[in-house]
Amino acid sequence: MTIQTAIAEVSTVLGERLSRSKGDLDHHGGSETYFAHTPPDAVAYPESTEEVQKILRACAAHGCPVIPWGTGTSLEGHALAFRGGISLDLSRMNRVLRVDAEDMVCRVQPGVTREALNTELRATGLFFPIDPGANASLGGMAATRASGTTAVRYGTMRDNVLGLEVVLADGRAIRTGTAARKSSAGYDMTALFVGSEGTLGVMTELTLRLQGQPEAISSAICAFDSVSDAVATVIAAIQMGLPMARIELVDAATARGFNLYSGAGLAEAPHLLLEFHGSETGVAEEARRFGELAQDLGAKGFDWAEKTEDRSRLWKMRHEATYAIKALRPGCDILVTDICVPISRLAEAIDETTADIAASPLEGPILGHVGDGNFHALLLIEPGNTAELDAAKALSDRMVERALGLGGTATGEHGVGVGKLGFMEREHGAAWGVMGEIKRALDPQNILNPGKLVALN
Ligand code: LAC
Ligand code: ZN
Repeated sequence: MTIQTAIAEVSTVLGERLSRSKGDLDHHGGSETYFAHTPPDAVAYPESTEEVQKILRACAAHGCPVIPWGTGTSLEGHALAFRGGISLDLSRMNRVLRVDAEDMVCRVQPGVTREALNTELRATGLFFPIDPGANASLGGMAATRASGTTAVRYGTMRDNVLGLEVVLADGRAIRTGTAARKSSAGYDMTALFVGSEGTLGVMTELTLRLQGQPEAISSAICAFDSVSDAVATVIAAIQMGLPMARIELVDAATARGFNLYSGAGLAEAPHLLLEFHGSETGVAEEARRFGELAQDLGAKGFDWAEKTEDRSRLWKMRHEATYAIKALRPGCDILVTDICVPISRLAEAIDETTADIAASPLEGPILGHVGDGNFHALLLIEPGNTAELDAAKALSDRMVERALGLGGTATGEHGVGVGKLGFMEREHGAAWGVMGEIKRALDPQNILNPGKLVALN
């Protein structure tokens, strides 16, 4: 009963903030994708770094798994307690600790969501640009090295986390990074923890890079006859050096989902959604050049969103894509794939994937952050239908094989969790073994999110 002993010890630290209520266990046993419901043994709600340290010390003493939890929006089973243990819910550590407008950085606790941070920043003229769609917690976004619709301009969490406070498996709290913008002092520990998916430590504070709110923003949506024409436009725009802040592809089935879910009134055709950030004249010129290029390559029905509310409606529609696609098959489960390839290979990756899905029994709309060479298929599965789930997993596996064959990666933004574990050795070779050695050095008992990202036992 080592897990029970750890839980008893943690409850002396947290009191009622260590919950075993059915509601809490159910909530922390769920995910937004096809994984089976997997409740933890208990849910802990720490409110400080010191409490996280005490929890980890108790769990280390009794070999109890600890699974950090942000908002539960990850897509590869990252936050599920497959081996039982304590779900460490960081949502109460949700304070913006400091905004240094002059240095364009802020310090936050891990449970602050990206929307809450941007609301808090509104009056400062700054914003935090990374936008995975979901209103995820910043700790969760750092842990999965998230990105999303704006990575083409602002990069991923890798580029925007400048420093961390992390509690290690033995309860020590360490700091990585400094207030300086760059440093050559030793191993890049911040980069090691960003993307480590809760397997190396628990982030308790993050220092984030901020951006100035652009003077002008221009967004548009336009339709194409084929996905190939849309992708050709994106590649040409990138190769021309057009500084797009967002460039998103949705296919015809996704457009149909938008129409069903939010009455979008789009043509049932592939579309690009795009945005430029900059000065009034810069944005106008970039939009004009993009419009000319896209029209040469077959775009039609350009709809520019000049007003803030029109832009908000456009991106809200995009952010709700998962729900819109689910509306195509009411009541379905979903397997969300995620691959990323060099931009020059994007057209063939998408074409082959589209053909593969068309030849399968499944419906699987495609959408993606095409400016990064990153796209998803959202495979719709009847709940409990194992033949369909197997077909979806096989399609997803073939997508990853295709991506690796084209010099890409098994996951552009969603992370490894358990869903992509089977491809890590193939993608990284001997380096995956080194990841295991790092894990073993920092967490010799394998209590931190065990069974994810690296295979120890
Ligand atoms: C998106 C999620 C699935 O792009 O990554 O909507
Ligand atoms: Zn995405």
